Amino acid sequence: MNPRHFLTLFDLAPEDLQRLLARAIELKTRFQYGGSRMPLAGQTMAMIFEKSSTRTRVSFEAGMAQLGGSSVFLSPRDTHLDRGEPVEDTARVLSRMVEVIVIRANQHTMVERFAAHSRVPVINALTDLHHPCQLLADIQTYIEHRGEIAGRAAAWIGDGNNVCHSWIQAARQFGFKLRIATPKGYEPNAAIVQASGTHVTLATDPAEAARDADLVVTDTWASMGQEAEKTERLKAFEGFQVNPALMRLARRDALFMHCLPAYRGQEVAAEVIDGPQSVVWDEAENRLHAQKALLEFLLAEKQNRQD
Ligand code: CP
Ligand code: NVA
Repeated sequence: MNPRHFLTLFDLAPEDLQRLLARAIELKTRFQYGGSRMPLAGQTMAMIFEKSSTRTRVSFEAGMAQLGGSSVFLSPRDTHLDRGEPVEDTARVLSRMVEVIVIRANQHTMVERFAAHSRVPVINALTDLHHPCQLLADIQTYIEHRGEIAGRAAAWIGDGNNVCHSWIQAARQFGFKLRIATPKGYEPNAAIVQASGTHVTLATDPAEAARDADLVVTDTWASMGQEAEKTERLKAFEGFQVNPALMRLARRDALFMHCLPAYRGQEVAAEVIDGPQSVVWDEAENRLHAQKALLEFLLAEKQNRQD
Protein backbone atom coordinates (compact mmCIF):
# COMPACT_ATOMS: atom_id res chain seq x y z
CA MET A 1 0.00 0.00 0.00
CA ASN A 2 1.35 3.46 -0.90
CA PRO A 3 1.91 5.81 2.02
CA ARG A 4 -0.01 9.08 2.27
CA HIS A 5 2.22 12.05 1.34
CA PHE A 6 1.72 15.78 1.90
CA LEU A 7 3.19 17.52 -1.13
CA THR A 8 0.39 20.03 -1.70
CA LEU A 9 -2.81 21.02 0.10
CA PHE A 10 -4.76 18.92 -2.41
CA ASP A 11 -3.24 15.75 -0.90
CA LEU A 12 -5.65 15.99 2.05
CA ALA A 13 -9.43 16.12 1.79
CA PRO A 14 -11.06 19.32 3.13
CA GLU A 15 -12.53 17.39 6.08
CA ASP A 16 -9.08 15.96 6.94
CA LEU A 17 -7.61 19.47 6.84
CA GLN A 18 -10.33 20.73 9.16
CA ARG A 19 -9.77 17.87 11.59
CA LEU A 20 -6.02 18.38 11.45
CA LEU A 21 -6.32 22.06 12.37
CA ALA A 22 -8.72 21.30 15.22
CA ARG A 23 -6.10 18.86 16.49
CA ALA A 24 -3.36 21.48 16.08
CA ILE A 25 -5.33 23.86 18.29
CA GLU A 26 -5.76 21.07 20.85
CA LEU A 27 -2.02 20.23 20.77
CA LYS A 28 -1.22 23.92 21.24
CA THR A 29 -3.32 24.10 24.41
CA ARG A 30 -1.78 20.88 25.68
CA PHE A 31 1.72 22.22 24.98
CA GLN A 32 0.92 25.45 26.88
CA TYR A 33 -0.25 23.43 29.89
CA GLY A 34 2.74 21.09 29.80
CA GLY A 35 1.13 17.82 28.62
CA SER A 36 3.63 15.17 27.58
CA ARG A 37 1.98 12.41 25.51
CA MET A 38 4.63 10.90 23.23
CA PRO A 39 2.83 8.98 20.47
CA LEU A 40 5.86 8.95 18.15
CA ALA A 41 8.35 7.51 20.67
CA GLY A 42 10.98 5.47 18.89
CA GLN A 43 10.16 6.94 15.46
CA THR A 44 12.61 8.89 13.31
CA MET A 45 12.10 11.77 10.88
CA ALA A 46 14.71 12.48 8.18
CA MET A 47 14.93 16.05 6.88
CA ILE A 48 16.55 16.89 3.53
CA PHE A 49 16.92 20.65 3.10
CA GLU A 50 18.36 22.03 -0.15
CA LYS A 51 17.62 25.62 0.98
CA SER A 52 17.95 27.65 4.17
CA SER A 53 15.31 27.62 6.88
CA THR A 54 14.72 29.02 10.34
CA ARG A 55 11.06 28.30 11.13
CA THR A 56 10.44 25.10 9.20
CA ARG A 57 13.51 23.27 10.41
CA VAL A 58 13.15 24.23 14.06
CA SER A 59 9.39 23.65 14.20
CA PHE A 60 9.70 20.17 12.68
CA GLU A 61 12.63 19.17 14.88
CA ALA A 62 11.09 20.57 18.07
CA GLY A 63 7.69 19.10 17.17
CA MET A 64 9.11 15.63 16.57
CA ALA A 65 11.01 15.78 19.89
CA GLN A 66 7.83 16.86 21.71
CA LEU A 67 5.99 13.87 20.23
CA GLY A 68 8.72 11.56 21.51
CA GLY A 69 10.54 10.96 18.20
CA SER A 70 13.91 12.01 16.86
CA SER A 71 15.18 13.76 13.73
CA VAL A 72 18.14 13.49 11.37
CA PHE A 73 18.88 16.72 9.48
CA LEU A 74 20.63 16.32 6.11
CA SER A 75 21.81 19.01 3.76
CA PRO A 76 22.53 17.63 0.27
CA ARG A 77 26.22 18.26 1.01
CA ASP A 78 26.04 15.71 3.83
CA THR A 79 24.60 12.98 1.63
CA HIS A 80 25.41 11.51 -1.76
CA LEU A 81 22.63 13.55 -3.42
CA ASP A 82 25.13 16.27 -4.31
CA ARG A 83 27.51 13.64 -5.70
CA GLY A 84 24.98 12.25 -8.14
CA GLU A 85 23.15 9.49 -6.25
CA PRO A 86 19.67 9.50 -7.78
CA VAL A 87 16.76 10.93 -5.79
CA GLU A 88 14.89 7.64 -6.38
CA ASP A 89 17.67 5.55 -4.81
CA THR A 90 17.95 7.92 -1.86
CA ALA A 91 14.19 7.59 -1.32
CA ARG A 92 14.32 3.78 -1.44
CA VAL A 93 17.16 3.68 1.10
CA LEU A 94 16.04 6.33 3.60
CA SER A 95 12.44 5.10 3.65
CA ARG A 96 13.63 1.68 4.85
CA MET A 97 15.25 3.36 7.86
CA VAL A 98 12.94 6.14 9.06
CA GLU A 99 9.20 6.65 9.51
CA VAL A 100 8.73 10.04 7.79
CA ILE A 101 10.77 12.28 5.48
CA VAL A 102 10.54 16.07 5.30
CA ILE A 103 12.04 17.75 2.22
CA ARG A 104 12.74 21.37 1.25
CA ALA A 105 13.70 21.26 -2.41
CA ASN A 106 14.59 23.66 -5.17
CA GLN A 107 12.27 21.90 -7.58
CA HIS A 108 8.85 20.49 -6.86
CA THR A 109 9.56 17.56 -9.19
CA MET A 110 12.28 16.45 -6.75
CA VAL A 111 9.76 15.84 -3.94
CA GLU A 112 7.39 14.14 -6.39
CA ARG A 113 10.14 11.78 -7.57
CA PHE A 114 11.20 11.14 -3.98
CA ALA A 115 7.64 10.42 -2.84
CA ALA A 116 7.02 8.06 -5.75
CA HIS A 117 9.82 5.81 -4.46
CA SER A 118 9.33 6.22 -0.70
CA ARG A 119 7.75 3.59 1.54
CA VAL A 120 6.99 6.24 4.17
CA PRO A 121 5.15 9.59 4.12
CA VAL A 122 6.98 12.50 2.49
CA ILE A 123 6.20 16.07 3.57
CA ASN A 124 6.89 19.09 1.37
CA ALA A 125 8.69 21.68 3.51
CA LEU A 126 8.73 24.19 0.57
CA THR A 127 9.54 23.89 -3.10
CA ASP A 128 9.58 26.38 -5.96
CA LEU A 129 5.85 25.66 -6.42
CA HIS A 130 4.24 25.05 -3.02
CA HIS A 131 4.56 25.59 0.73
CA PRO A 132 1.63 23.64 2.16
CA CYS A 133 2.89 23.42 5.77
CA GLN A 134 2.88 27.23 5.93
CA LEU A 135 -0.79 27.27 5.03
CA LEU A 136 -1.72 24.83 7.79
CA ALA A 137 -0.27 27.31 10.28
CA ASP A 138 -1.79 30.33 8.54
CA ILE A 139 -5.32 28.95 8.44
CA GLN A 140 -4.98 27.83 12.06
CA THR A 141 -3.98 31.39 12.91
CA TYR A 142 -6.97 32.88 11.08
CA ILE A 143 -9.35 30.47 12.87
CA GLU A 144 -7.87 31.32 16.27
CA HIS A 145 -8.28 35.07 15.72
CA ARG A 146 -11.48 35.29 13.69
CA GLY A 147 -13.19 31.88 13.51
CA GLU A 148 -13.96 29.97 10.33
CA ILE A 149 -12.31 31.25 7.15
CA ALA A 150 -14.97 29.76 4.82
CA GLY A 151 -16.84 32.57 3.05
CA ARG A 152 -14.20 35.23 3.85
CA ALA A 153 -12.12 37.23 1.37
CA ALA A 154 -8.33 37.24 1.48
CA ALA A 155 -6.04 39.50 -0.57
CA TRP A 156 -2.61 38.36 -1.73
CA ILE A 157 -0.42 41.33 -2.69
CA GLY A 158 2.93 40.89 -4.48
CA ASP A 159 4.64 37.92 -6.07
CA GLY A 160 2.66 34.97 -7.47
CA ASN A 161 5.12 32.58 -5.82
CA ASN A 162 5.17 29.25 -3.97
CA VAL A 163 3.38 30.60 -0.88
CA CYS A 164 0.81 32.30 -3.13
CA HIS A 165 0.20 28.94 -4.84
CA SER A 166 -0.52 27.29 -1.51
CA TRP A 167 -2.91 30.15 -0.63
CA ILE A 168 -4.66 29.46 -3.95
CA GLN A 169 -5.12 25.80 -3.07
CA ALA A 170 -6.21 26.76 0.45
CA ALA A 171 -8.95 28.97 -1.01
CA ARG A 172 -10.53 25.92 -2.61
CA GLN A 173 -9.90 23.52 0.27
CA PHE A 174 -11.19 25.89 2.97
CA GLY A 175 -13.87 27.62 0.88
CA PHE A 176 -12.79 31.28 0.86
CA LYS A 177 -12.17 33.85 -1.89
CA LEU A 178 -8.63 34.90 -2.73
CA ARG A 179 -7.99 38.10 -4.70
CA ILE A 180 -4.44 38.24 -6.00
CA ALA A 181 -2.69 41.44 -7.13
CA THR A 182 0.67 41.05 -8.87
CA PRO A 183 2.65 43.14 -11.33
CA LYS A 184 2.39 41.91 -14.91
CA GLY A 185 4.76 39.02 -15.50
CA TYR A 186 4.69 37.89 -11.84
CA GLU A 187 1.29 36.16 -11.87
CA PRO A 188 0.88 32.76 -10.20
CA ASN A 189 1.05 29.55 -12.22
CA ALA A 190 -2.01 29.46 -14.50
CA ALA A 191 -2.74 25.75 -14.00
CA ILE A 192 -2.70 26.16 -10.20
CA VAL A 193 -5.05 29.15 -10.47
CA GLN A 194 -7.37 27.25 -12.77
CA ALA A 195 -7.56 24.26 -10.43
CA SER A 196 -9.06 26.51 -7.73
CA GLY A 197 -11.70 27.80 -10.13
CA THR A 198 -14.02 30.51 -8.91
CA HIS A 199 -12.26 30.84 -5.55
CA VAL A 200 -9.47 32.92 -7.10
CA THR A 201 -9.37 36.19 -9.05
CA LEU A 202 -6.34 38.00 -10.48
CA ALA A 203 -5.70 41.75 -10.64
CA THR A 204 -2.80 44.12 -11.20
CA ASP A 205 -4.09 46.78 -8.78
CA PRO A 206 -3.31 46.10 -5.09
CA ALA A 207 -6.18 48.39 -4.04
CA GLU A 208 -8.68 46.30 -5.99
CA ALA A 209 -7.52 43.14 -4.20
CA ALA A 210 -7.33 44.70 -0.73
CA ARG A 211 -10.68 46.53 -0.73
CA ASP A 212 -12.96 45.06 1.98
CA ALA A 213 -10.68 42.05 2.49
CA ASP A 214 -10.81 40.14 5.79
CA LEU A 215 -7.13 39.31 5.50
CA VAL A 216 -4.15 40.82 3.65
CA VAL A 217 -1.15 38.58 2.91
CA THR A 218 2.21 39.15 1.30
CA ASP A 219 5.66 37.57 1.00
CA THR A 220 9.16 38.55 -0.07
CA TRP A 221 9.55 39.93 -3.58
CA ALA A 222 12.64 37.76 -4.18
CA SER A 223 12.37 34.17 -2.99
CA MET A 224 15.29 31.88 -2.25
CA GLY A 225 17.05 31.19 -5.53
CA GLN A 226 15.98 34.53 -7.08
CA GLU A 227 18.76 36.61 -5.51
CA ALA A 228 20.18 37.55 -8.94
CA GLU A 229 16.82 39.10 -9.93
CA LYS A 230 16.56 41.23 -6.79
CA THR A 231 17.23 44.65 -8.35
CA GLU A 232 14.87 44.01 -11.23
CA ARG A 233 12.21 42.71 -8.87
CA LEU A 234 12.45 45.68 -6.47
CA LYS A 235 11.62 47.88 -9.43
CA ALA A 236 8.84 45.68 -10.79
CA PHE A 237 7.08 45.51 -7.40
CA GLU A 238 7.06 49.26 -6.73
CA GLY A 239 3.53 50.16 -5.63
CA PHE A 240 2.86 46.66 -4.24
CA GLN A 241 3.97 47.33 -0.67
CA VAL A 242 1.45 46.48 2.04
CA ASN A 243 1.41 49.78 3.92
CA PRO A 244 -1.08 51.53 6.23
CA ALA A 245 -2.86 53.16 3.25
CA LEU A 246 -3.49 49.75 1.66
CA MET A 247 -4.56 48.22 4.99
CA ARG A 248 -7.12 51.04 5.39
CA LEU A 249 -8.91 49.76 2.26
CA ALA A 250 -9.41 46.36 3.89
CA ARG A 251 -12.03 45.74 6.58
CA ARG A 252 -11.36 47.46 9.89
CA ASP A 253 -10.79 44.10 11.58
CA ALA A 254 -8.64 42.70 8.75
CA LEU A 255 -5.61 40.68 9.76
CA PHE A 256 -2.15 40.99 8.20
CA MET A 257 -0.15 37.82 7.49
CA HIS A 258 3.35 37.07 6.21
CA CYS A 259 5.10 33.68 6.26
CA LEU A 260 8.46 35.34 7.17
CA PRO A 261 11.27 36.15 6.67
CA ALA A 262 10.01 39.68 5.98
CA TYR A 263 11.79 42.68 4.50
CA ARG A 264 10.46 45.84 6.12
CA GLY A 265 10.32 48.76 3.69
CA GLN A 266 9.97 46.41 0.71
CA GLU A 267 6.90 44.14 0.55
CA VAL A 268 5.60 45.40 3.91
CA ALA A 269 5.86 48.66 5.86
CA ALA A 270 7.18 48.35 9.42
CA GLU A 271 3.98 50.01 10.76
CA VAL A 272 1.94 47.13 9.32
CA ILE A 273 4.04 44.10 10.26
CA ASP A 274 4.75 45.53 13.72
CA GLY A 275 1.24 46.95 14.09
CA PRO A 276 -1.94 45.71 15.80
CA GLN A 277 -3.42 43.90 12.76
CA SER A 278 -0.34 41.74 12.27
CA VAL A 279 -0.47 38.10 13.42
CA VAL A 280 2.88 37.05 11.96
CA TRP A 281 4.34 35.73 15.24
CA ASP A 282 1.29 33.53 15.77
CA GLU A 283 1.69 32.18 12.24
CA ALA A 284 5.31 31.33 12.99
CA GLU A 285 4.43 29.68 16.31
CA ASN A 286 1.63 27.69 14.75
CA ARG A 287 4.08 26.01 12.39
CA LEU A 288 5.01 23.92 15.44
CA HIS A 289 1.48 22.91 16.41
CA ALA A 290 0.11 22.38 12.89
CA GLN A 291 3.07 20.22 11.87
CA LYS A 292 2.78 18.12 15.04
CA ALA A 293 -0.83 17.45 14.05
CA LEU A 294 0.36 16.64 10.51
CA LEU A 295 3.00 14.17 11.75
CA GLU A 296 0.43 12.48 13.98
CA PHE A 297 -2.06 12.31 11.11
CA LEU A 298 0.35 10.88 8.53
CA LEU A 299 1.96 8.42 10.90
CA ALA A 300 -1.40 7.22 12.20
CA GLU A 301 -2.50 6.80 8.55
CA LYS A 302 0.64 4.78 7.87
CA GLN A 303 -0.09 2.57 10.86
CA ASN A 304 -3.71 2.07 9.75
CA ARG A 305 -2.62 1.09 6.26
CA GLN A 306 -0.14 -1.46 7.61
CA ASP A 307 -2.66 -3.03 10.04
N1 CP B 1 8.13 30.59 6.60
C1 CP B 1 9.14 29.70 6.47
O1 CP B 1 9.00 28.61 5.89
O2 CP B 1 10.29 30.09 7.07
P1 CP B 1 11.73 29.38 6.98
O3 CP B 1 12.24 29.58 5.58
O4 CP B 1 12.53 30.08 8.02
O5 CP B 1 11.56 27.92 7.26
N1 NVA C 1 8.68 32.62 -1.02
C1 NVA C 1 9.71 32.45 -0.04
C2 NVA C 1 9.14 31.80 1.18
C3 NVA C 1 10.12 31.58 2.30
C4 NVA C 1 9.52 30.87 3.46
C5 NVA C 1 10.86 31.63 -0.61
O1 NVA C 1 10.60 30.66 -1.32
O2 NVA C 1 12.01 32.00 -0.37
